[in-house]
Amino acid sequence: MRDLEGLIKGRRSIRQWKKQEVPDELLKKAVELATWAPNGGNYQGWRFIIVKKKEINERIANAVQSVTDKIASWPEAVTWQEDVQRYQKNASFFRNAPACIGVFTGEYQSPMDKVLIVRESFDPEAKEILGFRRSAPTAIQSAAAAVTTMLLVFYGMGLGAVWLVSPIQAKKEIEAILKVPSNKNLICLVAVGYPDESPQRNRKPVDQVLEFVY
Ligand SMILES: Cc1cc2nc3c(=O)[nH]c(=O)nc-3n(C[C@H](O)[C@H](O)[C@H](O)COP(=O)(O)O)c2cc1C
Repeated sequence: MRDLEGLIKGRRSIRQWKKQEVPDELLKKAVELATWAPNGGNYQGWRFIIVKKKEINERIANAVQSVTDKIASWPEAVTWQEDVQRYQKNASFFRNAPACIGVFTGEYQSPMDKVLIVRESFDPEAKEILGFRRSAPTAIQSAAAAVTTMLLVFYGMGLGAVWLVSPIQAKKEIEAILKVPSNKNLICLVAVGYPDESPQRNRKPVDQVLEFVY
């Protein structure tokens, strides 16, 4: 238990890496262990694409930066100018990562979803319940479990990784660059390499976020 606590608390998001290449076997092992994460219906609709080719990662990073710059240039961004500029500055740092993993998933339909989908057009209650299910999609929760597992494995291997959702803005471009089939959707990228920084991060005390119901 102490080892597990050390692993969980010691992991940090890493955004600066050494140039050193990450061996394929480590990347493959991390993805393999990630697929042991709990997932809805054991459907395993996830797919992983590991990009090690610098030129491809550059193209992805450029696409993300370009969409981010476009959003930042819209007049509505002025209201949050400082935050938007900070976001814009950090949008594509993952171009320097020795490896970048695209995490994708297909849609998952449980038996409940199938029933509700047939009824939603004429039954408001079914439509409402389907809305509840769609507010917390099983496929995305499953992919998140895999990504969490992967980050812990990378940390255990002495690697440093970061979970990146901001690239989702360039979903269309990324899926085209990586030739992703149309039934799979980008969830996030995970950038990984040997860490070249040791950031510190804290958490709120558990009593601030926990409630027991007896
Ligand atoms: C769903 C999710 C999305 C995230 N997206 C980004 C991101 O787009 N860019 C980034 O630099 N970090 C991103 N992170 C990393 C968080 O900023 C980081 O986990 C948080 O600040 C806590 O720091 P720690 O991971 O070092 O404990 C994301 C993390 C999660 C779980």
